[in-house]
Amino acid sequence: MEQRMKLILSKLRANYKIDEKEIRITVGPGRVNLIGGHTDYNMGFVLPCAIDKDTMIAAAPNNTDTVNLFSINLNDSISFSLKSLEYDPQDRWANYAKGICFYLLEAGHEIGGIDGVLQGTVPIGSGMSSSAALEVSIGYIFQKLFNLDISPKELAMIAYRAEREFIGVQCGIMDQFVSVNGVRDSVIFLDCRSLDYEVITMPSKDLQVVILHTNVKRSASSALNQRKNECFEAVKLFQQYDSSIEALRDVTPDFFEKHKDFLSPILRKRSQHIVYENQRVIDAKDALKQEDLEELGKLMVESHRSLAKLYEVSSKELDAMIKISTDVQGVIGSRMTGAGLGGAVACIVENEKVDDLIKAVYLRYPQLTNKKPITYICKIADGVREVPLNEL
Ligand code: GLA
Repeated sequence: MEQRMKLILSKLRANYKIDEKEIRITVGPGRVNLIGGHTDYNMGFVLPCAIDKDTMIAAAPNNTDTVNLFSINLNDSISFSLKSLEYDPQDRWANYAKGICFYLLEAGHEIGGIDGVLQGTVPIGSGMSSSAALEVSIGYIFQKLFNLDISPKELAMIAYRAEREFIGVQCGIMDQFVSVNGVRDSVIFLDCRSLDYEVITMPSKDLQVVILHTNVKRSASSALNQRKNECFEAVKLFQQYDSSIEALRDVTPDFFEKHKDFLSPILRKRSQHIVYENQRVIDAKDALKQEDLEELGKLMVESHRSLAKLYEVSSKELDAMIKISTDVQGVIGSRMTGAGLGGAVACIVENEKVDDLIKAVYLRYPQLTNKKPITYICKIADGVREVPLNEL
């Protein structure tokens, strides 16, 4: 942490003329979702946690209307005026920052230009939500630099709107919400409709979250948009039988079984996944509270199967990771994390079995797929936070 802060601060001082007293540093984490695949934009339930892979930003106000940011990872600078905040594909990652500024201003928050340097440790395109980490960290640095009165829910909503409305990815609220509200060593049971949530402490400190990356980058946005449309079409058909249904979250298993034959095979599969996945999230929350890790693991694997067979967002590489990991003793459960179609699998593993898992993955994954895996060992971390400069 210290080394990283020093690097970011030295770049900040080298690239911009900074008023030392004004510098603030924020960290926005990525996330892993233990269960609840694609339920968020159907107004259902999810069970994610924030992880210790994040985006760190150091910045200071520059008393202009211009936002200047430099990314250490990309070795790239961006610059835009707060007076013209329009999405432009040419602007690459600047659009995330522009989106945040746009919704901050729209909500009436008074912000000015800043100079900042950022560095991220969330792998891009891996299903760990590097975009939420970036959005939330940017939102929070503005909040700190301009002393804005923003609740955690509002910050999550601003970051969510930046992703969904400004960037145009038809995602749900999960990633941004948990990046703001995550709690160390705990998972968040979130109702994506009401945004009520419960913090559930992991039953044991002897567990790790291990990410098995397929080394295939996923293109989440088109798949998400298509699945979302299919779910909305299914809702319209269910509404013919009960007009109070507003989202697939409102369809119970009984109601689904009664009316499923009126759906086309594709819409039937998509809605079957969502209806039963919501129940699995509730069951997984109860299992965690009862410290029944075996049940949690079973539900995670069932969730993956359903995402593969019914929602059709798995891949042969993701399935290979599930096969390999579930064969290792001490792995509690595993499933794809994020949108799917590439990206990564998240496993909950007993501490002393992490090495066995990693060895098995490096041995068997290339045999099954001809590709090299990438693995990350993560801790469950707090949500967005400020790092005081005196920690240096
Ligand atoms: C992506 C989206 C999330 C969620 C997941 C699937 O990560 O950003 O909102 O829909 O896919 O569970």
